[in-house]
Amino acid sequence: MASRSILRASSQALRSVTTAPIRTGKPSALAAAASFHTTRALFDGKNGSSNSQKNNQLPPGSLARTDESITVEYPEEGELPSSTPVTGRGGMHSKRTLASFSLEGKTSVVTGGARGLGLVMGQGLVISGANLAIVDMNKNPGATRVPKVTAHFADVSDADSVQGCIEGIIAEHGKIDSLVTSAGFTENYDAINYPIDRMRKLWNVNVDGTFLFAISVAKHLMERKAAGSMVFIGSMSGSIVNVPQPQAPYNAAKAAVRHMASSLAVEWAHAGIRVNCISPGYMLTALTQKILDDNPDLKRQWTSLIPQGKMGQPVDLMGPVTFLLSDASQYVTGADLRVDGGYTVT
Ligand SMILES: NC(=O)c1ccc[n+]([C@@H]2O[C@H](COP(=O)([O-])OP(=O)(O)OC[C@H]3O[C@@H](n4cnc5c(N)ncnc54)[C@H](O)[C@@H]3O)[C@@H](O)[C@H]2O)c1
Repeated sequence: MASRSILRASSQALRSVTTAPIRTGKPSALAAAASFHTTRALFDGKNGSSNSQKNNQLPPGSLARTDESITVEYPEEGELPSSTPVTGRGGMHSKRTLASFSLEGKTSVVTGGARGLGLVMGQGLVISGANLAIVDMNKNPGATRVPKVTAHFADVSDADSVQGCIEGIIAEHGKIDSLVTSAGFTENYDAINYPIDRMRKLWNVNVDGTFLFAISVAKHLMERKAAGSMVFIGSMSGSIVNVPQPQAPYNAAKAAVRHMASSLAVEWAHAGIRVNCISPGYMLTALTQKILDDNPDLKRQWTSLIPQGKMGQPVDLMGPVTFLLSDASQYVTGADLRVDGGYTVT
């Protein structure tokens, strides 16, 4: 199922109405796609008009709407492009900084840590002194062992799998102090044609998976009477509606993740457990890079809406996640830290 998946979306669906996936004999989709092509032509300046003429010809609302012809499926495990750890960052240095930013002596768990944002955030935690347990369904993490890094399998959406995984981490590390839930994914379908099984899977991984890991780690911390910190990886999509790709269930799931962080922050404040959310904007991972390589127009549309004028790099999350897991943020809980180049403030 998956190899058709990811990338046909942006490239094929946007490029040609006739090759748009899954959509057959659907006049409204075709009409939307046609209107999108019109918009793109204007956007690309292909109609030979001057800028002011182009602006005048933009159909009202056209740049602020979703396009139901865009379909993107998340790939199966074996088809995920691998991510390489970043190099040239971290290690011992002589620059002065607050000691409270150090994660020395802490053990952190990162779900979805074998790839993408989770892999780089895990690196940031290790660089900041933490031991690390990477949890993923992907059994080939690309991380190196510095200082103590272990890899654990779990399907975060499965309660038994999560429980077994937590027990395995505690057996190897002796304890868990902090958690980052980066396991999650997005897909693009227009709402009416969203296959219900895929919608449920998306919800199970992004929402249930976050909840299951959070409660397991909270239980462990409470049994130890230890303070702890959790960071849920949400998305700016939990606060805004992306365009042009339709993704209503993902947007709703990330809104749920954000509010779950706030709710658990209140519920567990008495136990010294802080829970915050990081909401990234458009980040350049191996997966998004592949999508955009196939469809440069999509990248142009996305970046045109970002005040900083560029997509984020995974390393842009290293500092925010380290801050929120460290004692430097000890009075920060229930917060949503947006790391989006300013996207959501415009
Ligand atoms: N890349 C972006 O632009 C972006 C933007 C905003 C938010 N996010 C969020 O950041 C998080 C990480 O995204 P990414 O871009 O690094 O994605 P990714 O696909 O590169 O990495 C996600 C990892 O999660 C793992 N995973 C998926 N389902 C799982 C499951 N059921 N159990 C255990 N592991 C599972 C995958 O194997 C993969 O290693 C996601 O929650 C995503 O929604 C990403």
